[in-house]
Amino acid sequence: MPIVPIEPTLSEQIVEDLASKHWSEIPNFLPTQMAKELYQELKQTYREGEFVRAGIGSGSKFRLKSEIRGDYIHWLEEAHLSDLQRHYWAQIEQVRLALNRAFFLNLRHFEAHFALYPVGSFYKKHLDQHQNVQERLISCVLYLNENWTPQDEGCLRIYQTEPHLSAPLPPNADTPYLDIAPQMGTLVCMRSDTVWHEVLPTKRPRASLTGWLRRENMMF
Ligand code: OGA
Ligand code: MN
Repeated sequence: MPIVPIEPTLSEQIVEDLASKHWSEIPNFLPTQMAKELYQELKQTYREGEFVRAGIGSGSKFRLKSEIRGDYIHWLEEAHLSDLQRHYWAQIEQVRLALNRAFFLNLRHFEAHFALYPVGSFYKKHLDQHQNVQERLISCVLYLNENWTPQDEGCLRIYQTEPHLSAPLPPNADTPYLDIAPQMGTLVCMRSDTVWHEVLPTKRPRASLTGWLRRENMMF
């Protein structure tokens, strides 16, 4: 894996934000031109018929549930990445190392898929860590949408987690939240086990590259 230097301040910012509030938003994490090219790769993969409906849960708990999520995904395999994808993987590698150093985590792998939300689709509020396998520790969502406007809706809604709680209750009507527009090149990182979040119904097709930093498989 080539070392791609990212501004050390970027990973420092992510570390600081995760420590204080469990999530972080980094505009222009991937330079705009690269993000635009990555979006072209996503579209090409879609045209080739390589996307499938996303489900929820893992292993025997996997289900398709359109009342919960309506996006289409394509998993990327590390052995078959394009140059550009490899560049992004290398940027995330810098974040992985910084998080391991700062929090003594044992993050080992990065897994990621392209995601496309058709008009009208959404993903109801959830945590990213699966109930039966707790390997996902940090979620990393890179957005690939040019000039997203408030009229497009489809924001990521992050519910404000009490930073001292390790297992916050699901949000209710009183829970404060923050909405993030899925702008080209913006990266959102969040703790997969504590940050409740949802994708609000979108009025425009909405593209991203969504991934997770995982620890070792704890079963063996
Ligand atoms: C997910 C998810 C957020 C987003 O795929 O688990 O919550 O903004 N995505 O796309
Ligand atoms: Mn999620």
